[in-house]
Amino acid sequence: MKRLLFPVLFLTICASTYAGSLNKSKKDSIIAKKCEVCHTRTSPGIVHDWENSLHAKAKVTCIDCHEAEKTDADARAHEGVYISALVSPADCSRCHPQQVSDFNNSLHVKAASFIQNLEGDRAGDNVLAYHVEGKAAAIMGCEKCHGSQVKVIDGKLDPETWPNNGIGRVNPDGSKGSCTACHTRHKFSIAEARRPETCGTCHMGPDHPQLEIYNESKHGVIYASEGHEWNMDISTGAWDTRHHRAPTCATCHMSGIGELTSTHDVSSRLSWELEWPRTAKTENWQEKRSKMKAVCLSCHSQGWTDNHYLQFDNVVKLYNEEYFDPIKEGMDALYRENYLTKDKFDEEIEFKYFEFWHHEGRRARMGASMMAPDFTQWHGFYELAKHRLELKNMMQEIRHKKDQDEQYHKK
Ligand code: HEC
Ligand code: HEC
Ligand code: HEC
Ligand code: HEC
Ligand code: HEC
Ligand code: HEC
Ligand code: HEC
Ligand code: HEC
Repeated sequence: MKRLLFPVLFLTICASTYAGSLNKSKKDSIIAKKCEVCHTRTSPGIVHDWENSLHAKAKVTCIDCHEAEKTDADARAHEGVYISALVSPADCSRCHPQQVSDFNNSLHVKAASFIQNLEGDRAGDNVLAYHVEGKAAAIMGCEKCHGSQVKVIDGKLDPETWPNNGIGRVNPDGSKGSCTACHTRHKFSIAEARRPETCGTCHMGPDHPQLEIYNESKHGVIYASEGHEWNMDISTGAWDTRHHRAPTCATCHMSGIGELTSTHDVSSRLSWELEWPRTAKTENWQEKRSKMKAVCLSCHSQGWTDNHYLQFDNVVKLYNEEYFDPIKEGMDALYRENYLTKDKFDEEIEFKYFEFWHHEGRRARMGASMMAPDFTQWHGFYELAKHRLELKNMMQEIRHKKDQDEQYHKK
């Protein structure tokens, strides 16, 4: 945590004019100049990025973000001051309190905390990570998207946990998250954050192919054909259908558009938990759904929007009742009757069951939510139908084989 340059209350009242209120001492300006001059030689890329940012224009300097208290866990003495290489959301919150508090309400902020302790069906991935696949894989895989728990050893950031820009990174000052996951340093651009490719670093692949889904949707096709011409730099609140005629991920999940205000809480417009094994409604789902619908209404009619949701809800119901429930019942019975061990991923059927809900089950539901027919169909329900049959056959075989073995031993 850095020392407060000016009272937070003042900041929140006149957030738009705080740039001018940065009353830096002369000493701070001299130090800041030293950082710039030397780093232009040692790491010019960093200084040039910063020079091209709104921060440089607003005279937010290297030490405004990097200076640390001597007592901070991650502080190191550097050229006459204490600095930290890690700049956490708590540091940004001195000047951007609203963005940080919204971010803290989202599921993004929790993305790292759960990795090592989930229960029930949802324990799938974390057992895979640390026990089946191995620690090195978890560090370069899961934790790069979800975030590591950054540790400090003898005043140095532990190389096993740093660098890391995962979305829910647990920082040495106790704060969570990494703003650079969407606004890379040192440009900290909103244009970059609004591009779907940014979200796609993490939101892609067999288990949550949101980027691929978007690319297939008409929205994504329009973005691909003309998105490079759109002005993505317009400030929050003013970015409108005049500037982009199809939504990007940010438009639907975060941006201010029409009557809606911009938010860093990506969970605030979702009515379903589509990532879960069995889809469930979110808390206050009606309110969240009406926010998402308000996004659509900037470009579509009420009927178009309502009917999309109706078709999407039917897909969720179909998946839950016709695919997930019967297979889950079959699996539960195998565990209950000791046909399977309690350990996860030590039997082949457990991999198949995992993929059933975690891969094709998610693709079917997510494809439908974001208008990608091929993900709903061929990557989704087709695979579900095929594997529902295979899983049922495997269950019968497991029972048959074990029963036969037991009879043989009794003889
Ligand atoms: C005389 C040159 C010089 C000056 C002045 C200087 N730095 Fe550095 N800085 C370096 C060099 C060289 C490195 C890389 C070697 C190292 O990690 O010590 C570095 C590393 C860093 C790092 C990365 C540390 C890490 O652990 O990865 C940060 C952050 C940093 N400097 C910020 C600053 C800030 C902020 C200032 C102004 C207060 C500053 N530097 C002033 C030369 C300088
Ligand atoms: C708006 C806040 C902010 C400002 C201003 C800022 N930095 Fe940074 N800096 C960051 C963040 C954020 C990171 C990435 C680390 C992280 O995610 O915590 C970073 C990373 C770094 C690193 C390590 C990155 C690497 O790739 O090795 C260095 C070195 C550094 N900054 C130097 C500087 C220098 C020099 C300046 C001034 C020209 C500066 N920073 C200005 C926020 C800032
Ligand atoms: C000392 C105050 C201060 C700190 C600390 C600070 N910022 Fe800023 N930030 C500003 C100011 C001032 C602006 C320009 C606002 C404007 O022009 O509306 C700005 C603008 C931005 C923008 C908008 C850029 C654009 O393209 O419109 C982003 C994104 C941003 N900051 C992110 C961050 C992040 C992330 C951190 C922490 C790593 C951070 N800031 C730390 C003061 C700060
Ligand atoms: C660095 C990786 C990363 C980036 C970049 C990223 N996300 Fe995420 N996102 C995640 C992870 C991990 C989760 C799951 C968190 C969990 O379940 O604990 C997630 C979850 C979500 C959710 C679901 C929230 C919920 O409540 O179910 C939405 C919506 C979302 N992200 C939207 C976005 C958008 C939009 C962008 C780009 C503007 C983006 N994300 C960028 C990693 C990322
Ligand atoms: C490419 C980035 C990426 C990698 C690598 C990754 N995840 Fe994820 N993970 C995500 C995203 C994005 C979501 C959110 C999916 C959604 O909400 O649609 C997610 C969701 C999850 C969830 C569901 C959380 C919930 O709220 O139900 C768990 C658990 C999880 N991941 C654990 C892991 C583990 C453990 C690993 C490593 C074996 C891993 N992930 C690898 C990006 C990633
Ligand atoms: C999931 C991606 C994502 C993450 C993580 C993220 N941002 Fe943003 N940020 C965005 C998007 C997208 C916008 C543009 C929103 C819009 O269009 O209304 C934005 C806009 C901003 C702005 C400009 C606000 C304005 O009024 O112009 C600031 C400041 C900002 N973010 C700060 C932060 C800080 C601080 C963090 C860390 C807590 C952070 N962001 C983390 C995606 C992200
Ligand atoms: C046209 C608007 C729109 C666009 C564009 C869009 N989404 Fe979505 N997204 C939705 C809707 C609608 C849902 C389902 C909402 C609900 O549950 O009520 C959703 C759901 C999600 C979920 C939640 C899945 C879960 O686990 O519950 C994630 C994550 C997500 N989107 C990420 C993204 C990413 C990343 C992009 C860009 C590559 C993107 N979205 C583009 C509208 C959009
Ligand atoms: C910024 C404007 C914009 C927003 C916001 C937007 N859309 Fe669209 N959408 C379009 C345009 C343009 C098309 C292409 C229409 C055509 O085919 O002529 C389209 C197409 C569609 C289609 C037809 C897909 C197909 O394959 O033909 C559906 C369904 C749809 N949108 C639903 C939604 C929903 C639901 C939301 C809100 C979650 C939403 N849209 C948000 C602009 C938008």
